Amino acid sequence: MKESKVILSIETSCDDTCCALVRDGKEVLSSVISSQIDLHKQFGGVVPEEASRMHIEKLSLVIDKALEEANFDLEDVDAIAVTHAPGLVGALLVGLNEAKAIAFALKKPLLACHHIKSHIFANFIENDLDFPFICLVASGGHTHLFEVLAHDKIKLRGQTLDDAIGEAYDKVARALGLGYPGGPIIDKLAEEGDASKIDFPKAWLSKDSYDFSFSGVKSAVLNYLNQAKMRGEKVVVEDVCASFQAAVIEVLVKKTMKLAEHTGIKQVAIGGGVAANSHLRKEMTRACEKAGVDFYYPSMKYCTDNAAMVGVNGYYELVNGRLADYSLNAIGTLPLNE
Ligand code: KG4
Ligand code: ZN
Repeated sequence: MKESKVILSIETSCDDTCCALVRDGKEVLSSVISSQIDLHKQFGGVVPEEASRMHIEKLSLVIDKALEEANFDLEDVDAIAVTHAPGLVGALLVGLNEAKAIAFALKKPLLACHHIKSHIFANFIENDLDFPFICLVASGGHTHLFEVLAHDKIKLRGQTLDDAIGEAYDKVARALGLGYPGGPIIDKLAEEGDASKIDFPKAWLSKDSYDFSFSGVKSAVLNYLNQAKMRGEKVVVEDVCASFQAAVIEVLVKKTMKLAEHTGIKQVAIGGGVAANSHLRKEMTRACEKAGVDFYYPSMKYCTDNAAMVGVNGYYELVNGRLADYSLNAIGTLPLNE
């Protein structure tokens, strides 16, 4: 086995068409992302059929660009990694079929990657992170709390019972007429608002629960806006954003820290699109400092969907001999609990 391994990775689980070249699960040679935000924002959210169509249109171009930026020939890559679950099935299939075709043509290994695991592994790109660590994955489709004991030993300790955190951000933004995706807009507006103005509910669930629920706070924001409209009262959008954000982030941070305390694990990491949130990063930094726990987070570009994190995930599949075959299928919902 050649020592150094360069993996070409593909990610098409939602609305970003992504390809990356990553050496040895660490060094990102290139990471190209073609965002579909302009297409979906007119609908206020991702339209699955449109996403698949756009992936078909863009994927070859994105792969060519990733190879060009890395100054690499397709024939020289050692393996092909691809997200096969979870996500929008039609969108996943576009990336999966392309990955199979390349792997078959080049006679190179095919590596199956789980999207949530890739969000966790994004932390390995820029940090030297040892096991065990706690990882909160917070994105548009997922809100999961894990105990990460090894590359292939990841225990699910809590998850959302209803809306994902990013979904709540996007729906609140939509109700406020702020556009899509709502997370970054709310993040920005909240800086100008007063978080103590409105007391939105925080769902702690049962005392020892590491699960989350965001549908209640989302409905509370919608009710607040409806009532203000009925009474003819002016809504201060910045205050709504700050108060909503304070409520949801407090729950995320406290539950994550409680798991760290309960397990005695001294490292906490975050991943997924909502991990790009400035308030979450700030509050998590503060809480970890107070608890004497090391805090890790990926740069913004590795928080939201990208293929570099898939290249990291794929590397550990390859070195552990877990090769996929051509029967690999796209799966919309697949829990991660190994
Ligand atoms: O990880 P991601 O790109 O896709 C999924 O796997 O879902 O996450 C996208 C989500 C969207 O809901 C978006 O609003 C949210 O991440 N997001 C943010 C921020 N940046 C992106 N939410 C809060 N604050 C941000 N700065
Ligand atoms: Zn994601």
